[in-house]
Amino acid sequence: MTIFNFTDDQALGTVSSVDTATVIVEVDDSEQLKRLQVNRLAVLQSSKPGQHLIGLISKVTRKRLVPRHDDSDEDEPSEQNLCKVALIGSLLDADGLKRNVFRRTLESVPEIDANCFSLEGEDLTAFMRVISHAEGEGNSLVLGKYTLDEHAVAFLNGNKFFQRHAFIGGSTGAGKSWTTAKIIEQVAGLKSANSIIFDLHGEYSPLTGDGIEHFKVAGPGDVDAGNTIADGSIYLPYWLLSYEALVSLFVDRSDQNAPNQAMIIAREINAAKTKYLQDGGHQDVLDNFTIDSPVPFNLALLLDRLNDINTERVPGATANKDKAGEFNSKLSRMISRLENKISDRRLGFLFQGGDDALQFDYLNRLADSLLGSSDENGTGGVKIIDFSEVPSDVLPLIVSLVARLSFSIQQWTPLDKRHPIALMCDEAHLYIPSRNLADSADEISIKIFERIAKEGRKYGLSLVVISQRPSEVNKTILSQCSNFVAMRLTNSDDQAVIKKLLPDSLGSFSDILPTLDTGEALVVGDASLLPSRIRIDEPVNKPNSGTIEFWQEWQSEVDPTRLSTAVDNWRKQKIG
Ligand SMILES: Nc1ncnc2c1ncn2[C@@H]1O[C@H](COP(=O)(O)OP(=O)(O)OP(=O)(O)O)[C@@H](O)[C@H]1O
Ligand SMILES: [Mg+2]
Repeated sequence: MTIFNFTDDQALGTVSSVDTATVIVEVDDSEQLKRLQVNRLAVLQSSKPGQHLIGLISKVTRKRLVPRHDDSDEDEPSEQNLCKVALIGSLLDADGLKRNVFRRTLESVPEIDANCFSLEGEDLTAFMRVISHAEGEGNSLVLGKYTLDEHAVAFLNGNKFFQRHAFIGGSTGAGKSWTTAKIIEQVAGLKSANSIIFDLHGEYSPLTGDGIEHFKVAGPGDVDAGNTIADGSIYLPYWLLSYEALVSLFVDRSDQNAPNQAMIIAREINAAKTKYLQDGGHQDVLDNFTIDSPVPFNLALLLDRLNDINTERVPGATANKDKAGEFNSKLSRMISRLENKISDRRLGFLFQGGDDALQFDYLNRLADSLLGSSDENGTGGVKIIDFSEVPSDVLPLIVSLVARLSFSIQQWTPLDKRHPIALMCDEAHLYIPSRNLADSADEISIKIFERIAKEGRKYGLSLVVISQRPSEVNKTILSQCSNFVAMRLTNSDDQAVIKKLLPDSLGSFSDILPTLDTGEALVVGDASLLPSRIRIDEPVNKPNSGTIEFWQEWQSEVDPTRLSTAVDNWRKQKIG
């Protein structure tokens, strides 16, 4: 049974011009024209039998024609009704043994004078059923229902969605975190799921259940309490940082001695790592390690060495008279910067992990917790990491440290043992900013994420970039994404970025971005058969999205201790 049985008299009109992927249809009846809506679907007769072309109505116009002759007769049309259709795919009546198959390719082009029909009513339902059925085969990720037909479930191809990075964008409150939660809950249901969520505000804490694990980058309160990975507190000890990241943390670039300081840091870290390996009897690592290798070193010893160098005196030209060493007092600023960082309670997750975080196998335990899949660690393959207590100036450094860890582990896993992992980056503009907004800590983060965007696919490492400011997110990374979930966007700079990322042929499809409802999205990309408008289903467990009912709150009772509690918490650096 073919689903379309249009008769000529149902035609809207006929094709009057054909371009590569768009056609112009002349609509005979102006009443028909009035009913047409942009972004709805149209069907075109194909030049090949057994096929129909499917398009998206992208423009509807009525043009008044100036009469050619003053004495024009009554029959000459006084207006021209046009409808522009962006071709998006073909419906084949049969493909091998399968009936009614939709393909994203254009198997043929329509001919001039081909009939065009509006896709509505039962025809639309039948077509959407074909789409849903095809998309639901096997690897289906369900986001919600099509706005076009509220009974048709919108399935995405889960393989394709994660294969080549995805982007979720929309103004604040448009529904990105809820959409992410909807995706997470399905990922969590898979047997060997593996994904990390960067949760910057602790928004995803209500997402619980099988397959989901929560971690928090240790805050001052966790350090005081001596919490460990087993309690869900993770330390990301300084020795895991790359050399570049350590320099950006310790050396003030504006210091005139910065180049010397960076050089000495490199030399001394190398020495400190060597000592650690020698003391621990790790000869096999000692032969090949580099400054960026994840080898612990003792920071107190390093600091002693730096102090020695900073106060060093060497024999002078005349006997019995010494003089200041080459780097004497050139390290003072770096040393005090380093001391400040080490004692900064907010940076406890870097420097105050104690002996545990200095163990050689700490990295193994960290990797097991963060990068293990559901069936390996027996708990959750979806790991939500709360970064809410990480100070904003080091946030890019710390988030990208976890990203680098994931990338390195993937890279160093033999091909036959590799297991894919997705990094979901909420509030990505905060740590993967566009280059013109980046400072030195951002640069390090950008470099890592750009590398993942470009090479991650080969190693089974995927990014889902989530942001309310697409125009402030790094462009290289956005341009590597092949699936877009674009939610309501009100800012015109942000809209322009999304417009540029969508295929040209879709033309004005993105014009509806500012008018989308909360929880509604335009989904475009190879994971979705149709570029379509989808109403996202509510997730079972909803993120704390911080939507506060001002008017209502202002009419109700207030806890009289709230201010003193806040002041106290602020001082103690913990919400207790
Ligand atoms: N699919 C949905 N269905 C119904 N309501 C929704 C949906 N998605 C979001 N909402 C509503 O919108 C609010 C904000 O959603 P959400 O927290 O996901 O926004 P956001 O885009 O992540 O915003 P921000 O950029 O500020 O983090 C939710 O509290 C909820 O009330
Ligand atoms: Mg959010």
